[in-house]
Amino acid sequence: MAESGPRGILSTIGNTPLVQLDRLLPGFRGRVHAKLERFNPGGSIKDRSAYSMVRAKLASGELQPGRSVVVESSSGNLAIGLAQVCRYYGLRFICVVDAKTTEQNLAILRALQAEVEVVTEADPATGEYLPMRLRRVRELVAALPDAFSPDQYANPLNPSAHYETMREIAEALDGRVDYVFCPTSTTGTLLGCRAYIADQGLDTRLVAVDAVGSVLYGRGDGRRRLIPGHGASVRPPLLDPTAPDHVVHVSDLDCVVGCRRLGQREAILGGGSSGATVAALDKLAPTLPDGAVCVLVFPDGGDRYLDTIYSDSWVHEHFGEVTHLWKESREGVPQPC
Ligand SMILES: Cc1ncc(COP(=O)(O)O)c(C=O)c1O
Repeated sequence: MAESGPRGILSTIGNTPLVQLDRLLPGFRGRVHAKLERFNPGGSIKDRSAYSMVRAKLASGELQPGRSVVVESSSGNLAIGLAQVCRYYGLRFICVVDAKTTEQNLAILRALQAEVEVVTEADPATGEYLPMRLRRVRELVAALPDAFSPDQYANPLNPSAHYETMREIAEALDGRVDYVFCPTSTTGTLLGCRAYIADQGLDTRLVAVDAVGSVLYGRGDGRRRLIPGHGASVRPPLLDPTAPDHVVHVSDLDCVVGCRRLGQREAILGGGSSGATVAALDKLAPTLPDGAVCVLVFPDGGDRYLDTIYSDSWVHEHFGEVTHLWKESREGVPQPC
């Protein structure tokens, strides 16, 4: 299929807002901005990757609407991004998920007419669902004619989508960006930003925001994490350990506190990995030079986390009584001028 520019709903992917956060970190002697990726039509940064990976195959003619089938193991934002792109182009999409996928995400996938296959048995060796999901994807790709798996963990078109993310950030700030904080999992966002910074010769430093226990940077044990998004239990083929200038590890509780403070101080409901970037900035802030211009990438919004991060009973069940970590009086919050 000959490809022109993006059309219809897909033309609204990217060019997301960049907003200044004046209240987030009282006393910080720099400037903080947030790149709000929830404004993509599927609700997350993964719309960029999904569109990039499918568009190239459509343009080359390897994917044919009405004939080809896209198969991917994902239960979250990429799945929704792919469901949207595939629906738009009339491509069949089989999404392999597991028993942990939220009802809300399943409902969105089905509403976009994705076929959902649920893997119910975990890998006997590791207790994880991921190896079984990946095995099922391989089986489906082998069994179905004209099947294609985008494989976001290895596909260079995932990072290349985020070249644009960084271009948008740099252009909005006239190239004056000292630090960009990227939550990392496939590491696609970080690598795309790195490529743009290198090509343009910018001084911008990249901060990888990873989860405690993740195997991406450092010696994590791949332990189970409560909050999806950032961190990984398997090292992705895309991983380049030299790509970030700094790495900050954040815990599940750090994310909850980051999200709740973000809501309280800036009236932004961020997803878990957005809270992670807030926590990472908090940790790094004392070491940053005066006047540093920082950009936090917020990959999605809080509406997909209402039953977890924003549920007081869920937080209490997992962390005990911790509300004092973010509750503050109205007067305690710095007001904008
Ligand atoms: C909410 C959220 N945050 C962070 C990430 C990590 O981004 P990347 O895969 O580009 O490293 C993802 C990836 O799916 C995500 O869904």
